[in-house]
Amino acid sequence: MATKRKPLISGNWKMHHNHFEAIQVVQKLAYLLGGEDYDAVDVSVHPPFTDIRSVQTTLFDQKKCEIALGAQNCHWEEKGAFTGEVSPAFLTKLDVAYVIVGHSERREYFFESNEIVNTKVKAVFTHGMTPIMCVGETLEEREAGTTEAKVDNQVRDGLAGVKPDQVASMVIAYEPIWAIGTGKTATSEDAQAVCAMIRAVTAEVAGADAAAAVRIQYGGSVKPANAKELMGMADIDGALVGGASLDPDEFAKIVQYRNLPD
Ligand code: 13P
Repeated sequence: MATKRKPLISGNWKMHHNHFEAIQVVQKLAYLLGGEDYDAVDVSVHPPFTDIRSVQTTLFDQKKCEIALGAQNCHWEEKGAFTGEVSPAFLTKLDVAYVIVGHSERREYFFESNEIVNTKVKAVFTHGMTPIMCVGETLEEREAGTTEAKVDNQVRDGLAGVKPDQVASMVIAYEPIWAIGTGKTATSEDAQAVCAMIRAVTAEVAGADAAAAVRIQYGGSVKPANAKELMGMADIDGALVGGASLDPDEFAKIVQYRNLPD
């Protein structure tokens, strides 16, 4: 059997924790995680923009801490008259390594189309960071049997014109919208089936090597109780964790899923 890709477990804090709270959370998380964890898993935290500088300096001060800094969004342009937006160049300067792009909340509330998501994926690469591109279906789409068509489209459009070596290095997060913040998780078999399909579409778009290398996260009510089973699936290479990433004890347990009971 081919060796599995190194998992990436990411905490998307969404609009939670001010910068004072962020410092405490990250200090506790750094205390809870150690060398064996970083050997097994890559870890990133994605605080709100206003926390990023504080989290950057806090991480810098922690000894032997390999938690990577992430953002939840960015603009596609480097600079200009875009009131309220944040440039990917500013994020690079703050040592941000991963940027979540096209989260379903941004697609729904801020009208981000597949085309905008594609432009942002490219902008993140231009500035030397790694995109975590989110895809996923609504409950209506799942019930109507159109999950595959929706996700297929999001992957093809999102990866259009992205070079195969870039695709190989990026992350795609499969987040069924009906499982986000609801306590409902896709069964590990259902999540695996969609992640395998995402890998197959990636192979068509970017070639077999890129598809074999791309990391595919599952997101949607990931908790210590379900993390181990999800992470055991062949095409699931990590988790994008919302609610459970706000508490460092819970998030550390997910990062250390290999120690959880079966
Ligand atoms: P929850 O883990 O709170 O369901 O959120 C998932 C998510 O949207 C992560 O990006």
